[in-house]
Amino acid sequence: MAKVRLAAAGALGRAILPNVDAVVADARPTDPLLCLRPATIAAAARQFAGCFPGDVLYAVKCNPDARVLRALWAGGIRHFDCASLTEVELVRALLPAAEIHLMHPVKSRPAIRNAFERYGVTDFAFDSAEEMAKILQETVPVGLVGDPPLLGLFVRLALPKGNAVYDLSGKFGAPLGEAIELLRTARPHAARLGIAFHVGSQCLDPDAYTRAMALAGEAIAGCGVAVDIIDVGGGFPVSYPGMAPPPLADYIAAISAGVSSLPSGVRLWAEPGRALVAAGGSIVVQVLLRRGDTLFVNDGTYGNLSDAGVPAFRFPARRIRPGRPEDPEEELADFGLFGPTCDSADRMSGPFRLPADMQEGDWIELGQLGAYGACLRTGFNGFDRTELVEVTDPPMLVTPGYQ
Ligand SMILES: Cc1ncc(COP(=O)(O)O)c(C=O)c1O
Repeated sequence: MAKVRLAAAGALGRAILPNVDAVVADARPTDPLLCLRPATIAAAARQFAGCFPGDVLYAVKCNPDARVLRALWAGGIRHFDCASLTEVELVRALLPAAEIHLMHPVKSRPAIRNAFERYGVTDFAFDSAEEMAKILQETVPVGLVGDPPLLGLFVRLALPKGNAVYDLSGKFGAPLGEAIELLRTARPHAARLGIAFHVGSQCLDPDAYTRAMALAGEAIAGCGVAVDIIDVGGGFPVSYPGMAPPPLADYIAAISAGVSSLPSGVRLWAEPGRALVAAGGSIVVQVLLRRGDTLFVNDGTYGNLSDAGVPAFRFPARRIRPGRPEDPEEELADFGLFGPTCDSADRMSGPFRLPADMQEGDWIELGQLGAYGACLRTGFNGFDRTELVEVTDPPMLVTPGYQ
């Protein structure tokens, strides 16, 4: 019976539904339910693009769902940072007028060639001479060498480990000396020459951007050639329980301060992911079993809740019992969660703050999962089912600077 009703919810997934509680009351979902808030996503995009002093590229990896991409477009985003040919194809098919940038520093040759030849991508990132050679070889047709360059070439600059919640300093980036050499070598081949960096995801320190821009300024001074664009990457944070980031305005101020380290006329880009889409998605899970202060639920670290595992993100949580509105006086307790797979790594320590009398059959809505949620899902152990509905609920947590 539950399955039949859930199928009905799947059909409704294309309609705008009133709110999460109504969907749960109607569908009584026994599989995880992804609740998408397109209006929230469009509003965050408008807010960010409205105050960032440059072009805003959405980092598609964060949530590549077609409804999300359309909501971002509705919110005014016209540039998309892709990491793979699949992402390029997706964006080009869905948003033919989008400007696509392939900003992964290490790509396969077919990805470079097809992005350029078939999908009109001309902007590429790299952090080594070898990768730059691949880009030039795969994009400059034999016989056309010497034509005015049309590529945008972006040197990814290594940053020291900062204090972002999700460190990204270990894998990519050329150290300053190498970056200077790469800029010099790339200049004659570039219609646009840029420096890109990433301060780490969920960066709680606005000054990290100012410091990274100062390093980019050193690279510009050292290379002795003109640099057109500084891409300050992603990393812009959102609120989670127990983690209230500085307001967006502080990040914009830090970036504006960083401009003083750069020659005049250098343009700015940003590649936000999390900040644009986190609040626009939540996951409704159902309790399968209670064991003390641990709840076994039907979604977990191999599903939509990967970041609740080892990265130990805490997500805002609330119980849904159809027909019983939340009681603000209710006694609350801290719970850990176990996901549905047989792997004992499928655990989420939280703690998640929920009513003390949680029991089997209760639903829980977990918020801020529009970012790095569904895109990390696997089919491990056969738990790969998630229904999707669009809802008009406000976000479960508001980040300072966003409505
Ligand atoms: C190159 C690049 N740009 C942008 C992003 C988006 O970062 P965030 O979601 O922290 O804004 C990432 C995330 O890993 C990235 O690797």
